[in-house]
Amino acid sequence: MLTKEEVIERLNEVKDPFLHKTLEETGGVVEVLVKEEKQHVSVKIAIAKLNTAEQMQLQQEIVNILKQAGVPTVGLRFTQLPEEVLQKFGTENGNGKATLLSGKTKTKFLAIASGKGGVGKSTVTVNTAVALARLGKKVGIIDADIYGFSVPDMMGVTNRPTLKGNRIVPVKRHGVQMISMGFFVEDNSPVVWRGPRLGKMLKSFFTEVEWDDLDYLLLDLPPGTGDMALSVHNLIPSSKELIVTTPHPTAAFVAARAGQMAINTNHGVIGVIENMAYFESKVTGEREYVFGQGGGEKLAEELDTALIAQLPLAQPYKEENSHASIYQEDHPLSNAYQEIASYVIKNF
Ligand SMILES: Nc1ncnc2c1ncn2[C@@H]1O[C@H](COP(=O)(O)OP(=O)(O)O)[C@@H](O)[C@H]1O
Ligand SMILES: [Mg+2]
Repeated sequence: MLTKEEVIERLNEVKDPFLHKTLEETGGVVEVLVKEEKQHVSVKIAIAKLNTAEQMQLQQEIVNILKQAGVPTVGLRFTQLPEEVLQKFGTENGNGKATLLSGKTKTKFLAIASGKGGVGKSTVTVNTAVALARLGKKVGIIDADIYGFSVPDMMGVTNRPTLKGNRIVPVKRHGVQMISMGFFVEDNSPVVWRGPRLGKMLKSFFTEVEWDDLDYLLLDLPPGTGDMALSVHNLIPSSKELIVTTPHPTAAFVAARAGQMAINTNHGVIGVIENMAYFESKVTGEREYVFGQGGGEKLAEELDTALIAQLPLAQPYKEENSHASIYQEDHPLSNAYQEIASYVIKNF
């Protein structure tokens, strides 16, 4: 028979099947009882995820190790590692996958910000996401504009996420996965949540959603520099930011504050997109600068970044039963968005 210390020594070398760390590192050997007179050893092991095929395999492995070392009978119980330990190793909810907020995944966060509403932040978010997907990237969108959610509608989505166990399966359209507060309210009713409850919801968009192995996760940020925008900035480990503005100097002035906030919270600005830059006549090809001129350039200069695009006023082609905001692949603005996507891939 083995002593208690000898049992612990052997079990400590076994690896947690999800964390790929030894039980010594995870503190997974919770309890060992050696009953000399009954020739029996009972152990309690904590692992990252319970009731899986991996657990069955681990059970076999542990029983074999102890029997080969001369233990006649083995009793084995499993329990789940505490949340602090899971977080320390970059996973939550015991699904064994590193969560997005751990900063340990390959996923790059691209946040889309603006100084105020109505400048096309969401339009830029959804079209940039689709353009990245068209270039073969795995893309997701978090509609972090909790009060002003619009991503599902703009993507032309009418269905809702489903549940897989206790995980939320995001909705997928145009090759892009997405999650939005809009999925969790009834009939477009206003969101009345405030404070901690809202923060928890936002966090669960990252941790409780079954995202694919994303290359890029785009965040449609709340406009401006208010509490909500700040809490999103503080929640995500690091991101690059696209700032959207109209060409009007005042709009650019307001957007500068959003850019500054990104910089202050250690999220670098990757570039500026000037939206609604001009209207081009289909007849004469003449351009009219209906919202003024120069805002994008000035803002890019101020934030020491690039003016990536100047997008004209244009609607997607009309499609039956749809008022979605995605420019079709043969639409001139789709080319502009492909260039934005290429810029993002090259620079982030
Ligand atoms: N380049 C554009 N040309 C024409 N309409 C646009 C353009 N960009 C955005 N819009 C429209 O302007 C409105 C505001 O855009 P939206 O993306 O919702 O802004 P935000 O998210 O900043 O509030 C929407 O109705 C959208 O369809
Ligand atoms: Mg919006």
